[in-house]
Amino acid sequence: KNNQYILAVETSCDETAAAIVKNGREIISNVVASQIESHKRFGGVVPEIASRHHVEQITIVLEETINQAKLSFDDIDAIAVTEGPGLVGALLIGVNAAKALAYAKQKPLIGVHHIAGHIYANQLEKEFIFPLLSLVVSGGHTELILMKEHGSFEVIGETRDDAAGEAYDKVARTLKLPYPGGPHIDRLAADGEALIDFPRAWLEDGSYDFSFSGLKSAVINKLHNAEQRNQVLKREDVAASFQASVVDVLTTKTYKAAKEFGVKQVIVAGGVAANKGLRAALSTKFMDEDTELLIPPLSLCTDNAAMIAAAGSVAFEQGHRAGWNLNANPGLDI
Ligand code: KG4
Ligand code: ZN
Repeated sequence: KNNQYILAVETSCDETAAAIVKNGREIISNVVASQIESHKRFGGVVPEIASRHHVEQITIVLEETINQAKLSFDDIDAIAVTEGPGLVGALLIGVNAAKALAYAKQKPLIGVHHIAGHIYANQLEKEFIFPLLSLVVSGGHTELILMKEHGSFEVIGETRDDAAGEAYDKVARTLKLPYPGGPHIDRLAADGEALIDFPRAWLEDGSYDFSFSGLKSAVINKLHNAEQRNQVLKREDVAASFQASVVDVLTTKTYKAAKEFGVKQVIVAGGVAANKGLRAALSTKFMDEDTELLIPPLSLCTDNAAMIAAAGSVAFEQGHRAGWNLNANPGLDI
């Protein structure tokens, strides 16, 4: 048998997802059941509702994944699952489904870190060349991670308060945009001008950490003050100015770190990697550089299980196996 097939499950937040990936790089099937519609009216993900949806969806999603792949279970080498970080009740559904399946079908079980998954989404497009730097920007994470080899993750900077996506979602809520707000701000920003000079948190000299709560508050204050004075602020301009600040800090710090660590590739991962402003700014910044910039297609930026299978494939090759005591770990470190 020459080919390796990994079946993966992801339920860390509000998507119930399963996928099969061949040799760590080729998507055979990829099913994502999104719950966004159910959480929208609450303006954010409600953990209890997320868990209930995962319970309802997981078997259907798994069946569809296997049917789409036109493979039998004999072909599957291992079952990978997101063990954390994420919502504990949501993670538990995926972990238990994966365990039950692995036990019933006598397959090895592999626990995958959600962020490792986001990073490995890029391997579905292009082979990694080390050392590489990964900018992880999602609803729960903002990190710069240095990788010197497969499966090794060194966090060189991270957010001290809000994640980038979280700041997007909170600012969007103040602008009365639907959840999740990131894509809406992105769209508005394209039609606006960055006329408002919002703060940029550079932090101490040489620090690769981030901070977005000051920016978020500055935007919210600006909107409230304008409202009190009956001053008209164009939403497009507010969105463009906020986005300019986020993108400026993310791009500048990523570029600096790429130089300092002499990386061969820079990869962008997580939901905010879908942001058009960020994609454009990074592409410009790295245009004339030897460093190769990788940004996954939009469908692989947000939560999915193909990325968990891609990371699981490497873990499988490296001999990592989880025991039957594998548990959901909401605060798992990378
Ligand atoms: O990676 P992801 O799907 O879930 C987490 O693991 O958090 O990321 C979701 C986040 C949300 O905060 C959403 O608003 C943000 O990614 N997002 C965007 C865009 N698309 C999704 N933020 C800015 N611009 C976008 N185009
Ligand atoms: Zn995610």
